[in-house]
Amino acid sequence: MAVPAETTVPSEAGALAVPADVSGARMLASARDKAHGILVAYCGECHQSSSPGAKDGALAVFDLDHGEWYRGFTEERLQSARGRIDGQASPPHKLAFARFVELEAGHRADRTEPSAGNRPLPVQ
Ligand code: HEC
Repeated sequence: MAVPAETTVPSEAGALAVPADVSGARMLASARDKAHGILVAYCGECHQSSSPGAKDGALAVFDLDHGEWYRGFTEERLQSARGRIDGQASPPHKLAFARFVELEAGHRADRTEPSAGNRPLPVQ
């Protein structure tokens, strides 16, 4: 059986020309995806509405069954969650979760107004 002499390699150029904000959004989406799996494994018992042990107070903070589960994570809660994950997760899970916290926190910072408008001016 003859192997074709030439195989067509699809061009990667299109994929590489993704604007920075789009690839940033993809990185964030992928980090959220991984973090979701980790949270389900370690925290889903209370923080997932489909779990028999789900707690109302926990779901009010974040519900892993909700499509936008990450919305409940303020900067403070991101750090608190990282602390909890660090206390019990495997090293690869800790790393993946830390990456999510970093990207999620950065994403929030991006959305705030320019810093001059946020901070009170120093009193002279
Ligand atoms: C046994 C049930 C239970 C488990 C398991 C659980 N939580 Fe919670 N969590 C709660 C409840 C209930 C609250 C509501 C506030 C409170 O009572 O502290 C809460 C609140 C929180 C908060 C908001 C308060 C804070 O500390 O900033 C965060 C963030 C949080 N949980 C993260 C996690 C993470 C991450 C995990 C997994 C590593 C986890 N929780 C596992 C029950 C749980």
